[in-house]
Amino acid sequence: MSKFSKNILITGGAGFIGSHVVRLFVNKYPDYRIFNLDALTYAGNLENVKDIEQAPNYKFIKGNINDIGFINDLFNENCFDAVIHLAAESHVDRSITNPNDFIETNVLGTANLLNAFKASHKENLGDKLFYHVSTDEVYGSLGKTGLFKETTPYDPQSPYAASKASSDHLVRAYGNTYGLPFMISNCSNNYGGNQFPEKLIPLFINNIKHNKSLPVYGDGNYTRDWLYVLDHALAIDEIFHKGTIGETYNIGGFNEWTNLNLIKLLCELMDKKLNRAKGSSEQLITYVKDRAGHDRRYAIDAGKLNRELGWMPSVTFEEGLEKTVDWYLSNDEWLEHMTTGTYQEYYKKMYN
Ligand code: NAD
Ligand code: TYD
Repeated sequence: MSKFSKNILITGGAGFIGSHVVRLFVNKYPDYRIFNLDALTYAGNLENVKDIEQAPNYKFIKGNINDIGFINDLFNENCFDAVIHLAAESHVDRSITNPNDFIETNVLGTANLLNAFKASHKENLGDKLFYHVSTDEVYGSLGKTGLFKETTPYDPQSPYAASKASSDHLVRAYGNTYGLPFMISNCSNNYGGNQFPEKLIPLFINNIKHNKSLPVYGDGNYTRDWLYVLDHALAIDEIFHKGTIGETYNIGGFNEWTNLNLIKLLCELMDKKLNRAKGSSEQLITYVKDRAGHDRRYAIDAGKLNRELGWMPSVTFEEGLEKTVDWYLSNDEWLEHMTTGTYQEYYKKMYN
């Protein structure tokens, strides 16, 4: 008899959001055995989970969800009770230059996990759960008003969004066709420590630190709804334990910002933290060519999650942003490791 009450596989746990989810589950549920499966792509880094690597209920497995043979063996050997699936290619700009990477990992990789999970339980899926972590980008772009609800029709606009939408459809189809117990959550833009500095907030923090220009796409009047990463992890915990099988939950920060207003707030904060003259970081703002097919506005209605499970973000944006800036400024080594080598090539190709 195992001393653990559940074996849970978390995919993508060396990445940004995954590392926060893994840490929360390992520390909060010592009776769960947490397996962290990650291919350690450019975005995955074991430094993100260093503090829990010795925990008795934690095991890291390096592996690729696109490798069918490996995935089937892994599921047959471990008979996971639940999967929390976060592994993905996650950056819109990369999906514009390399869409096939997104189709392989986000669509086919998800299908591999679904097939292996189903087969490993010989179709007796009764109390099992496949929890799929998705994004608000599947709903497309909003006009000036309105919010994404769970019932909003899918209308993905980037290869990234289309690949995530496909994976959501696959999960629901496996629920409908094979009776696979699943839940899906679609979350807005996350920010916080451990995010790869290709996404807006960590990229701009790093650039300000090094007095590099801040490349604002188009007119900068694009709107996103920002959520602190730990609040996303806490929402996943609530949904995983209290959500209803077969349901979808939107997760958001009730926190819309245009890119320009967010960048100005970040600049102000960085000036203070770096003891620089007020207004100096803002001078680094440079308008650059817009992203192809750039979605104008995302905003989530997280009312269902609040009403049914009582979840609310725990920090304000100002608090979360300050914690985030402090994290990057006190983790020089992490930032350095992430921004050497291939990052420099990526940066040149994207921004020069
Ligand atoms: P990330 O890019 O920081 O991390 C992804 C992780 O997946 C990395 O550790 C990477 O090594 C791993 N991975 C990638 N391909 C793999 C493969 N083929 N096999 C095994 N592991 C692989 O991404 P993130 O921002 O932490 O996003 C995690 C999940 O949350 C994704 O599914 C994403 O779509 C979703 N999401 C992200 C946001 C956001 O704002 N970042 C918002 C909503 C939803
Ligand atoms: P990003 O962090 O890539 O998240 P997403 O595209 O998934 O919303 O981008 C957030 C917003 O910031 C988006 O409107 C694009 C914009 N942006 C810039 O203006 N410049 C940049 O260098 C980056 C990376 C993003």
